[in-house]
Amino acid sequence: MARHVILVSVLLSPLLTFLVSGQVFWSVNCGASDFYVDGNAISWMPDTTLVSNGVAQVVQSSNSISTVLDTLRVFTSRKKNCYSNPVTRGEKLLVRASFNYGNYDRLSSPPTFDLHFDGNFWTTVKTSISGLNMYEATYVAKGNSISVCVAQTKPGQFPFISALEVRSVDSNVYKVVDESRALFLLSRFSYGASGILRFPQDRYDRIWIPALAGTKKLTNNAIFIDPTGTNNPPSGIFENAITVDSTADILLLGTVSPSKTPVYITTYFSEVTNLDITGEKRSFQFYETTALKSVSMSDPVLPPYGSMTVRYLYNYTVYSITNISLMSTMSSDLPPLINAIEAFNVSEVLTDGTHSNDVGGLALLQKAFNVLGEWSGDPCLPAPYSWDWLNCSNSTPPRVTSL
Ligand SMILES: *[C@@H]1O[C@H](CO)[C@@H](O)[C@H](O)[C@H]1NC(C)=O
Ligand SMILES: *[C@@H]1O[C@H](CO)[C@@H](O)[C@H](O)[C@H]1NC(C)=O
Ligand SMILES: *[C@@H]1O[C@H](CO)[C@@H](O)[C@H](O)[C@H]1NC(C)=O
Ligand SMILES: *[C@@H]1O[C@H](CO)[C@@H](O)[C@H](O)[C@H]1NC(C)=O
Repeated sequence: MARHVILVSVLLSPLLTFLVSGQVFWSVNCGASDFYVDGNAISWMPDTTLVSNGVAQVVQSSNSISTVLDTLRVFTSRKKNCYSNPVTRGEKLLVRASFNYGNYDRLSSPPTFDLHFDGNFWTTVKTSISGLNMYEATYVAKGNSISVCVAQTKPGQFPFISALEVRSVDSNVYKVVDESRALFLLSRFSYGASGILRFPQDRYDRIWIPALAGTKKLTNNAIFIDPTGTNNPPSGIFENAITVDSTADILLLGTVSPSKTPVYITTYFSEVTNLDITGEKRSFQFYETTALKSVSMSDPVLPPYGSMTVRYLYNYTVYSITNISLMSTMSSDLPPLINAIEAFNVSEVLTDGTHSNDVGGLALLQKAFNVLGEWSGDPCLPAPYSWDWLNCSNSTPPRVTSL
């Protein structure tokens, strides 16, 4: 059963599309020694000038994924190791961290460790022998720099990182989310697409993964699809859609499990044929189905042809395993369709970090003593991952108690 479900059809708002974006577009190829420009014209910098700790490594060739993801930096010392970059306070950012163990150490022993950002716990990274772990968070920066840190949590299991990306995002994107929380990406699918879609098609470099979900693919025959509106999606996600065979069939979008973490799900719709010409009607509703019952969650969706509409579920939590699906209304001639979906975990309220007086004092100290200068990220948070050379109180905000 749902609590606090907000499902809103959002009107097009052409004024919002002209906001400036792209102030921060920072791409770090960890463990690399040279600059590299990839096939999307994204310029990757090596991390040699960003961190002094750690050792550059290369994955086993049989585990190669891409130039950027084949090098990494591993940290065998310190409680946590951080990458920091200046940003504008109050700016919305997309931060993506990637990990490809690739058996770089020939020990066939993929490590588990923690990932932090700006003094907040992000996730536990459980790597495997081959394949990519990628994490993405979108949030509003509370300070004038951001940090991403990896922290050792198990003896002998050394944290590493393969790539780090930070992109500015216009403030009207995912605006419904409380600005003191982060969104952790669970999935972002472009249904029926033939390949991955990201920058430059997506101005914020969101990565849209093609998916079919066991359904039928549709191709949009509109010559122009106006993607203007909520969340500024790239128009490419509207070129294809998926559907089911008949109006009697259910289009299953996903299953939500009970959890303390609420989710935010955004769905994107654009009609694929001009129904004014065919005289047909397509309309459908969201349903949530548990073992006990199935209830409609929304007014009918009638996807517009040549433009798009967005529906979302915000702060959505369930008490039992729940399927979210689309079903035709009684008056519909056509089965439901969907072009794209994004699903996120909504985080706890983010920390303001260690007391600002102490952060300021430490910065002066670091200027005076070069050897301390290489420490970055929050000095105390998340506990107990403070900088190795100081101790902190458990208060909010934490204070530095000894050096
Ligand atoms: C959700 O959908 C799956 C796949 O169709 C089905 O196996 C499962 O029983 C459904 N669960 C509920 C609670 O309806
Ligand atoms: C989310 O829902 C929970 C309980 O359902 C509520 O306590 C909380 O205030 C909501 N959060 C926001 C940001 O709306
Ligand atoms: C999202 O929340 C679920 C349930 O709490 C958790 O298992 C999962 O790890 C979270 N995912 C991310 C990306 O934070
Ligand atoms: C931090 O506290 C621990 C335990 O009380 C102590 O052993 C250590 O010396 C302290 N470190 C610093 C830098 O003060």
